[in-house]
Amino acid sequence: MQNKKIKIGIVGISFGMEFVPIYQKHPHVDSVAIADLNSTLLSVCAEKFCIPESDCYMDLDEMLNDTSIDAIHICTPPSSHAELSVKALNAGRHCGCTIPMGMSIDELYEVISARKKSGKNYMFLETTVFGREFFYIQEMYKKGELGKIQYMTCAHYQDMEGWPEYWEGFPPLMHPTHAVGPCLLLLDKTPASVYGIGSGRVRDSLKEKYHCPFSFESAFIELTDSDVIIEMERFLYEVSRSYQECFRVYGNQKSFEWQQLSDENPVLYERTGGIQQELIDIDGDPNRFSRGSEIMEKRIVVPDYGYRLPEEIAFFTTETVYNDKNQHLSFKQGGGHGGSHPHMIHEFIMSIIEERKPIIDDIKGAYWTAAGICAHLSAMEGGKKMVIPAFDKMK
Ligand SMILES: NC(=O)c1ccc[n+]([C@@H]2O[C@H](COP(=O)([O-])OP(=O)(O)OC[C@H]3O[C@@H](n4cnc5c(N)ncnc54)[C@H](O)[C@@H]3O)[C@@H](O)[C@H]2O)c1
Repeated sequence: MQNKKIKIGIVGISFGMEFVPIYQKHPHVDSVAIADLNSTLLSVCAEKFCIPESDCYMDLDEMLNDTSIDAIHICTPPSSHAELSVKALNAGRHCGCTIPMGMSIDELYEVISARKKSGKNYMFLETTVFGREFFYIQEMYKKGELGKIQYMTCAHYQDMEGWPEYWEGFPPLMHPTHAVGPCLLLLDKTPASVYGIGSGRVRDSLKEKYHCPFSFESAFIELTDSDVIIEMERFLYEVSRSYQECFRVYGNQKSFEWQQLSDENPVLYERTGGIQQELIDIDGDPNRFSRGSEIMEKRIVVPDYGYRLPEEIAFFTTETVYNDKNQHLSFKQGGGHGGSHPHMIHEFIMSIIEERKPIIDDIKGAYWTAAGICAHLSAMEGGKKMVIPAFDKMK
């Protein structure tokens, strides 16, 4: 790092390409290097963003030879995440990794152990906790407007037909963080245990890689030091429902429900504490009609939070690298991930510059990912309660 500016290396530039211009414009980034096994993609990205050939690599090993690179952003397929994260950390680089953090509990431990030995930062790059809806509800919660939270539900619905072959038959809850991340961060509690259940069946060819028969998986998560339960559900194959990453938060004063369709607005409910006045006025008998609180309901427009960012990157909350001609599937289906990308990149960079832990560090990333891995294991065992490992107690 020189003059509080860092050099970033992005590994995997399919979805990863989305982040190149955000880093390039960030006031604390000096330059960006890229790596991908696909040389055509490498040339396209280099040309589009004026990256010199000397900063283009075929893989992480080559990239790590450039000692001026301070931090690595991993955006390769899921089964490589833990291995590449460990490699980057062992090479003394800060590491940010897209979802999922790893494919097994052992892999989560390996990343934590490497982060501890390295003394560098690890950030789990979950987009949903940097989206507008999460910022909006977090603001309300911090002001006390929701009151006491009683229950939360979350879901990630996505039809993965046609995605790269490594996704085929992926167990739905094995990578749950687009759904559960916002719920866990809102309360800032760790998941303690989980019961999962599988529903429906996928076609036989989808069972070959991961041996998961279920089309849908649902789970209930118990939290440490909290009476709140989180319900989470996810499907990836053979369900007729359009894309959504969503959460619902039920408080005793206000509740938030994500919109059913992507072109609608979310709903906010407010329990006023009064009784249903209209019924009393009509009938004139309060004793008969004072059943149930008065609940106000309204659709709300969630604001954009670009103003929280340095002005050089604020416009990325509404603009992306992808456009009508160049559509990454997750963007087409996910509606731009709620303007999350520049917020997430800003947090990764500033945690390094300010020498502090990122908001989603390895321990949080491991808890969130493990909640899903354990839910899937529970579903495979008919709903047996699974205790989530205490990652924060790891020596
Ligand atoms: N909202 C989100 O957070 C979000 C959205 C989309 C994708 N993702 C994650 O991003 C990752 C990549 O997704 P994608 O859709 O771009 O996948 P993809 O298969 O389209 O692209 C992966 C790229 O990585 C390259 N690659 C693979 N192994 C490599 C290695 N060892 N070294 C260098 N390059 C390598 C491939 O050549 C390819 O270009 C996935 O893990 C996915 O879960 C996250």
